[in-house]
Amino acid sequence: MNLLPLATFFILINHVYIASSFLPHPSIPDRSHDYDTQIRKLQDLKSSLSRTNPVSIGPGEALVPPVSSSRLYTVTSYGADPTGKTDSTDAILNAIADAVAEERDGVLMQGITNHGGVQISLEGGIYKVNRPMKFPVAGVGNIVISGGTLRASENFTRDSYLIDLSSSSSSSTNNEYNYEYITFRDIMLDCNYRGGGIRAINALRTNIDNCYITHFTTNGISVEGGHETYIRNSFLGQHITAGGDPHERNFSGTAINLAGNDNAVTDVVIFSAATGIVVSGQANVITGVHCYNKATGFGGTGVYLKLPGLTQTRIVNSYFDYTGIVAEDPVQLHVSGCFFLGDAFIVLKSVHGTVNGVNIVDNMFSGSNKGVDIVQLDQRNGAFNNIDQVVVNNNNVNGMNLKATVATGATTGNGTSWTVDFNQILLFPRHIKFVQYTLMTSESNVFPNYVLRNISNNKVFIESNIAVAGTVSVTVDQGLSKRS
Ligand SMILES: *[C@@H]1O[C@H](CO)[C@@H](O)[C@H](O)[C@H]1NC(C)=O
Ligand SMILES: *[C@@H]1O[C@H](CO)[C@@H](O)[C@H](O)[C@H]1NC(C)=O
Ligand SMILES: *[C@@H]1O[C@H](CO)[C@@H](O)[C@H](O)[C@H]1NC(C)=O
Ligand SMILES: *[C@@H]1O[C@H](CO)[C@@H](O)[C@H](O)[C@H]1NC(C)=O
Repeated sequence: MNLLPLATFFILINHVYIASSFLPHPSIPDRSHDYDTQIRKLQDLKSSLSRTNPVSIGPGEALVPPVSSSRLYTVTSYGADPTGKTDSTDAILNAIADAVAEERDGVLMQGITNHGGVQISLEGGIYKVNRPMKFPVAGVGNIVISGGTLRASENFTRDSYLIDLSSSSSSSTNNEYNYEYITFRDIMLDCNYRGGGIRAINALRTNIDNCYITHFTTNGISVEGGHETYIRNSFLGQHITAGGDPHERNFSGTAINLAGNDNAVTDVVIFSAATGIVVSGQANVITGVHCYNKATGFGGTGVYLKLPGLTQTRIVNSYFDYTGIVAEDPVQLHVSGCFFLGDAFIVLKSVHGTVNGVNIVDNMFSGSNKGVDIVQLDQRNGAFNNIDQVVVNNNNVNGMNLKATVATGATTGNGTSWTVDFNQILLFPRHIKFVQYTLMTSESNVFPNYVLRNISNNKVFIESNIAVAGTVSVTVDQGLSKRS
């Protein structure tokens, strides 16, 4: 029989201008590996083509590629048990090993082999494993693992990760990165309280997309070094709950630990864990994340930004639900467009006393009238003494106490002195850097001199040379840049 490669078949189809939507996309292999069905479909297609168009495929040409040329590795064909009854560790590891046995064309970072998008399908099964799923060698890339559930068995190696992108061998010839462009998609990871979900060490361009990671004791996802792990459209929680869980006080672990640079967490729900996201790398972005992992009142934190404070983190359009943000000595931090519910607030925590380049703007805060400040300073380790370019402004509150670095106030009187006290609103206890003030009077024929005498303790004190009835308006700003 004369074999016609699948690719040629599609070229022929394009040539005869059959609407491509009728055809399987050439780059996505059919999920079914029932080849009889596949052959029938293709033959039907072929005969309909020859019926409607004079261009035909030559007689005797087969439409199905040899099985060996498919790059879809199905774990059940390696003996994995999709019912989750028996252990599937070796079966899945063998499928993974075969998938990366053959290098393919293409370019990736130097020292990383391109496997062309080879797919390892979990085929919608639930698989019990007792060791981490990992590649047999480092230095591989362009690989997709998708579509099923991995569950740690009761014998799973304690404190390891169900999927481990680390490198035990030093087979990668790239010194900096172990892996590039590995995709984990549509996978449920049940860590069974034995360890973590996914770990990526010195990996580049990793996708974690539509995963549900639960029952972790350490981290749901841990990113160490590397670059550009993109975590999207995923759900992470230590315990499966939709809020108001009676055991919330006992939630532990961290849903996402970013100890690397340039990662993104986008459209992710974190529904239980002591800490939602810990960031200790730089230039990470958190967007559209809903944290209700463990209430601040029970000791939880939504996002914790750790030293070194130069985290350059952007937290935007996220939802902090009874749990807030803690930032240690923040240097370049942007929080905007977020909603804080249930008295959730932001803490700037002094470690070495630096806060520099912080914007907390355009957020909404909602609480229960307990007088909770929306932004707080934790100065237990010493006061902030290096404060520069901090802007807390344009936030709105409902049932919480507004704090800001920019404020206006006014006082009306009849006399020679006016005081406006900004302590209620200003974030820093001292530190007014700029004051603008105006005395307005309706008394005719008086031209008082008035001066700013004192701004200590966030109180602005203004004095005039003659008694006058009027109103003094004041604007203060704690956030302007230091002038040398
Ligand atoms: C766990 O290990 C024990 C003892 O080796 C064994 O009897 C049991 O079947 C194992 N369980 C699984 C799920 O592998
Ligand atoms: C929390 O854990 C402790 C110790 O394991 C246990 O005694 C307590 O009942 C748990 N509390 C809740 C609310 O689950
Ligand atoms: C301001 O006080 C002076 C004297 O104390 C008084 O004569 C004057 O009427 C007052 N002006 C107004 C507008 O109340
Ligand atoms: C400013 O006012 C405070 C009391 O509010 C006072 O102790 C301090 O001496 C004043 N400073 C000056 C320069 O007047």
